[in-house]
Amino acid sequence: LVPPSEVSEGGGTLAKDQHGTPIPASQLLAEPPGTRALIAGLASEPTYLTVKDDGTLEPIGIVNNCTHLGCTFPWNPLDQQFQCPCHGSRYTPDGVVVRGPANLPLKLAHVAVKDDAIWLYPWTETDPRTGEPPWWV
Ligand code: FES
Repeated sequence: LVPPSEVSEGGGTLAKDQHGTPIPASQLLAEPPGTRALIAGLASEPTYLTVKDDGTLEPIGIVNNCTHLGCTFPWNPLDQQFQCPCHGSRYTPDGVVVRGPANLPLKLAHVAVKDDAIWLYPWTETDPRTGEPPWWV
């Protein structure tokens, strides 16, 4: 077996764990549907990946960087929200603000599974939540 290279031609980055080891898709997909798994993504930014009800990975990653002042935040499965502990901002599963002080949606990344590798790609086109160009580009 030839290990995949760390960065693909299309600007992709392998999803890695906290030790910098690439995470196989099969490892995340062994988790129950609804799991939010935190991985190191583009530029090592912590990014949430979601296991969907159909047992595949959501093709949209949510970057764990509060748009208020940049804190990282946990997923609250009871409330089905990302909840920032620093000043109380809350976000929907899609990363839309439901309570400030944050006023911008969470940054997105594309997620693609190829041969059990998880790749992340920069999100540069229209933000589907706002219908506008992404604020982070
Ligand atoms: Fe998240 Fe302030 S940094 S609410």
